[in-house]
Amino acid sequence: MTANFASGTIWTGDNLAVLRGMNDACVDLIYLDPPFNSNRTYEAPIGSKAAGAAFKDTWTLDDVDVYEHGEMADRNPAAYAVIEAARQAQGKSMQSYLIFMAVRLLEMRRVLKPTGSVYLHCDDTAAHWLRVLMDGLFSKSAFRNHLIWKRIGNHNDGGRFGRTADHLLFYGQDIHRNAVRIPLSDQNVASKYRHSDERGAYSSDDLTGPGVSDGEAGTAWQGWNPTDIGRHWSVPRTGDYARWIDGSLIHGYLKEDGILKRLDLLHEAGLILFTSKGTPRLKRYLEANPGQVPPDVWVDIPPVNSQARERTGYPTQKPLALLQRIIKASSDEGDLVLDPFCGCATTLVAADRLQRQWAGIDLSPLAIKLVDERIAEERGLWGGATALTEPPKRTDLGELPNYRTHRHRLYGEQEGVCVGCKTHFPFRVMEVDHILPRVKGGTDHPDNLQLLCSGCNRSKGGRTMAEWRATQ
Ligand SMILES: C[S@@+](CC[C@H](N)C(=O)[O-])C[C@H]1O[C@@H](n2cnc3c(N)ncnc32)[C@H](O)[C@@H]1O
Repeated sequence: MTANFASGTIWTGDNLAVLRGMNDACVDLIYLDPPFNSNRTYEAPIGSKAAGAAFKDTWTLDDVDVYEHGEMADRNPAAYAVIEAARQAQGKSMQSYLIFMAVRLLEMRRVLKPTGSVYLHCDDTAAHWLRVLMDGLFSKSAFRNHLIWKRIGNHNDGGRFGRTADHLLFYGQDIHRNAVRIPLSDQNVASKYRHSDERGAYSSDDLTGPGVSDGEAGTAWQGWNPTDIGRHWSVPRTGDYARWIDGSLIHGYLKEDGILKRLDLLHEAGLILFTSKGTPRLKRYLEANPGQVPPDVWVDIPPVNSQARERTGYPTQKPLALLQRIIKASSDEGDLVLDPFCGCATTLVAADRLQRQWAGIDLSPLAIKLVDERIAEERGLWGGATALTEPPKRTDLGELPNYRTHRHRLYGEQEGVCVGCKTHFPFRVMEVDHILPRVKGGTDHPDNLQLLCSGCNRSKGGRTMAEWRATQ
């Protein structure tokens, strides 16, 4: 589906209304770093680029639109069960926070392409609840990683171990492994690549695997048979090293099916050594190692320090390197990246650097100011982001007829009964109503329409159905 907004757009306002106005399945990657329910208020230091930015991260049921509460119970009973469990285990603050998150995550799932990925950044306050919620909303099979980012070196947390980690819940597609490789650590190189020759450092690797084979993998080569020691030949055929051999030393190696023939080729290319006991082993060169795919614990990305060039002073600012890794892992050039809690626009700046399209949303008007400053600083000539406050209007619902034209159909479907007071009325006193009003992101789509008697319709006014019900 095509996005109904331009790349480079930032909305100032509540992301729920903006997300509701976005077309289905138009975003390739969503990174969200919402408030964590940390029971704190965050403020930027006076004098920093972000001075004036503040947000509260303490939750009560008043922070949640009553509609959101009702909507979750109605639209996703499984997610609501998780929220209810959180209320019983931890109380209303966690319940409110999870309702706030769940309605927004539902919209994010809708706007994400089926081929897209989502990373939810949080801390250990709510990571466990959010993980179950995400399993329910994005499906268990879409789960990829529960990443740990070691965000600070040490932290003194009297009475318990220091809390130094943030959590990233990653759902979606397989990552682009080669886009995120990191160099091997010196320690790793020193312990593994202990030999060297004219081609450089190498490790001496086994050419066999456990268990005997009746086939070619169990036959002798150069007078040595792995069957004698209960093993079989395991000669590289796939993977990074086989590809390197094929590309750099033995053209056509990957196409060679014969095991003994592959051993011959490796031997001719000087890639086999023999131990003092005559056992053949594979030389695995450091030069061929493309680096390590980061594990699920990230200790190599430092936080934004007080002297860093990228520092804006925005509370909870995340490092560009963190976002660059995520964007490289889970998107391609030209893809659309969305950050619905974009803060000082770290994701947007990182996406821009990596030639992705991007859009962001934040309650704070500072996001737009900061992204403009940050991108202009890097690009020099920069036309500026598009700043909007009005949510977009969906264009993927087709040409919708005037909503009033649904009156007859609705009257038939509801069998003449008003959804509000459940009373039967003649056709002429029934009025078509938007369940979710248009000002709150509701559309003229038939799914959002119902018939109310004129009395109920007047009483409901501009409220959502759930808001109105709560007052009945
Ligand atoms: C943890 S900060 C994000 C920091 C960001 N990742 C960065 O690097 O600057 C959370 C942001 O969510 C914003 N926010 C909170 N509730 C929101 C809502 N309903 N809609 C949009 N933004 C919201 C806050 O203003 C705050 O900027």
